[in-house]
Amino acid sequence: MLKNKKVKIGIIGCGAIGEGLALFIAKELKEKTSLYALADMNPEAAIALRKKIAIKPRVYRIDKLIDGVDLIIEAASVKAADYILKKAIPKGKPVIILSVGALIKNLSILTQARNKGVNIYVPSGAICGADGLGALSLGGIKSLTLTTSKPPKGLVGADYLKKKRINLNKLKTTQTVFKGSVKDAVKCFPKNINVAATLLLASSFKKVKVIIKADPRLKRNVHSIRIEAKEAKINIEVENMPSRLNPKTSALAILSTQYLLRKLFSSFKIGS
Ligand SMILES: NC(=O)c1ccc[n+]([C@@H]2O[C@H](COP(=O)([O-])OP(=O)(O)OC[C@H]3O[C@@H](n4cnc5c(N)ncnc54)[C@H](O)[C@@H]3O)[C@@H](O)[C@H]2O)c1
Repeated sequence: MLKNKKVKIGIIGCGAIGEGLALFIAKELKEKTSLYALADMNPEAAIALRKKIAIKPRVYRIDKLIDGVDLIIEAASVKAADYILKKAIPKGKPVIILSVGALIKNLSILTQARNKGVNIYVPSGAICGADGLGALSLGGIKSLTLTTSKPPKGLVGADYLKKKRINLNKLKTTQTVFKGSVKDAVKCFPKNINVAATLLLASSFKKVKVIIKADPRLKRNVHSIRIEAKEAKINIEVENMPSRLNPKTSALAILSTQYLLRKLFSSFKIGS
């Protein structure tokens, strides 16, 4: 029996979110887990993060990390998430996915995970009310619209804007830059649209509409979610604040993953 063994956790992606999670796990979950290993395509990032953690996790390549841990956290990129899921599921390793677009690009990966009995976890991120959405997925959702408004600099550089010749540099008023499905939003704005992907997964509603706006008056991202169902009408508006720990990322992305980890380890026992 491995009942009392600590769960070994590995983090892939040692940037803003990876750091917030590593520090939390090492401090708050040390009774039940050990932060065993870190990996990053840029080994310097993993080495720099290791220095900030008292217990000194190993710095591994991705494959070695997957083999060596009980729970993998992906906080890197959609490309990394694709790779990790393909490697981890056949080995029966549970994964927490931050780059949620990877799941939308390839929904069959969830079927593979289910068939293999492997849990894939997605933090609620900016979707406060993910529970309510899950409840409504059992009822009758009629429409679900996500309107994401961002300061233009949060969108500049997306290939889609270049392709459509949309120039946001001198924008004076709000401009809608995208309207479409979650699948297309993930394709066109892979770095920007975790919220849309999480929304689709939480609601199981295939026809989520995504609207992306550039708004020069904004300093922060604002997500408005409108759900119309037979049972309820819900409006959610979230203005993302930068993380106190690392201003490069949103506080909610880190906090919601910490919360997910805390919930997991109040009942997660290995080998029982
Ligand atoms: N689900 C959510 O709520 C949510 C919110 C914000 C960001 N995200 C996503 O989480 C991921 C991490 O975000 P972040 O703010 O920490 O980014 P970041 O740029 O600060 O850090 C990413 C780190 O991952 C590493 N990396 C990138 N590609 C890699 C690969 N293929 N293999 C190994 N390492 C790789 C980079 O070198 C970097 O150190 C991004 O994909 C981002 O879109 C999710």
